[in-house]
Amino acid sequence: MKRGVLARWAAHLPLTPRTPHLTLGEGDTPLIAAPTLARDIGCAELWLKFEGQNPTGSFKDRGMVVAVAKAVEAGAHSAVCASTGNTSASAAAYCAAAGVRCNVVVPEGKVALGKLAQAVAHGARIVVLRGNFDAALSRVREIAQRTGIALLNSVNPHRIEGQKTAAFEIAEALGEVPHTVALPVGNAGNISAYWRGFCELGPRRPVMLGFQATGAAPLVSGAPIAEPETIATAIRIGNPASWKTAVEAQRDSGGLFAAVTDAEILAAYRRLSSEAGVFCEPASAAPVAGLLRLAQEKRSFAGQTIVAVLTGHGLKDPQSAIDAAAEIGPAIADDIGTLEAALQ
Ligand code: F0G
Repeated sequence: MKRGVLARWAAHLPLTPRTPHLTLGEGDTPLIAAPTLARDIGCAELWLKFEGQNPTGSFKDRGMVVAVAKAVEAGAHSAVCASTGNTSASAAAYCAAAGVRCNVVVPEGKVALGKLAQAVAHGARIVVLRGNFDAALSRVREIAQRTGIALLNSVNPHRIEGQKTAAFEIAEALGEVPHTVALPVGNAGNISAYWRGFCELGPRRPVMLGFQATGAAPLVSGAPIAEPETIATAIRIGNPASWKTAVEAQRDSGGLFAAVTDAEILAAYRRLSSEAGVFCEPASAAPVAGLLRLAQEKRSFAGQTIVAVLTGHGLKDPQSAIDAAAEIGPAIADDIGTLEAALQ
C-alpha cells in the first residue's frame, strides 16, 4: 500500500494532529536510467525522476496534498487556482477527495486536452480567461486575498513544502545527493522546492540547472516577458511568482538558467519516449534538451550523476505526441495479405 506524502514525510511537513490524512497515493516516483542520453550528455549516470507517475500525472500532487489538507484544517470549503493545466488537474482531484469546491482559472486555448479533461472529470468549476497564465494568477491572488477562498497555487507555502519531498526521495534512492539536478522552470515553485529539500537534507547539495523555453525565458533574460510563447504550454509563463527563491537556488548551488528552443524540446521529447521508454509531456523534456545543449557547448559532466526531473506524463497532451510523430497511414482492408504487406 502506498502511504502518500503526508504519512511518509510527516516529520518534515507542517502537520498538526488536526491535519486530515489526505492521500491519493502521491510520491514514491521512480528514478529511471537513460543510458543513451547519458552517453550523449557525457555524464556517468542520468536518472529520470518520473513525476508523471503521480496520481494525476504530475509533480503537483506532492504539494497539492499538503495545500488541500491544510486548507481543510483551516476550515476551507472552497479553493481556487490559476493554471496552465497540471495544477488545475491536481487541485480538482485533491479537492474532490477532500470534499472541497474547486475553481480553476485557465488561459484561453493553451491548456493540453488531458489536463482539462481531468479538471472536468473531478468536478471543478472551470473559468477560461482571455489572458495568459500570469494574468490568471494575478487575478486569483487578488480574489483569494479579497474573499479568503483558499489559494492553491505555489505561492501557497504548503505547496513548496510538499514538493520538496521529491529531493528527499532522490537522495534516499541514490544513497547520496546527485551532482546535478535539472528541471523545467515555469512559475519557478518547483526548483525552489527542490532546493529547499536539498538544503534541509544537509551540506552536500547538487548544482541546480533550470531550463525555460526560448519564448518564455524571463529568468534567462532577467526581465518579465509580456507575451510568453512555447509549444510547452505548461511552462508558458512570463513572470514567475517564485522568481526570487529560484534565483537563490541557482546562485547558491552554482547553477544556471538557460533557454531551449521548441525544436530542441521536441527532439528531447521524442528521444525520451523512443529511447528511454518514458513518455513525458513536452515541458518535461526541457531539462534533457538543456543538458544535451550544454554538452554540445562543451560543458563537461564527466563522472557526474545527474537527475532530470520529468514533471508530467505524456498522456496529458496527446496532441503534441501525434503532431511530433510520423503520419499514421489510412486504415487498410481487413485481409491477412494486405496486413502482412503493411508490416514488411
Ligand atoms: N512542468 C510541468 C509539466 C508543469 O505543469 C509546470 C508548471 C512546470 C514544469 C513548471 O513548474 O511552475 O514550479 O516552475 N505548471 C503550472 C500549472 C504552472 O499551472 O500547472 P514551476
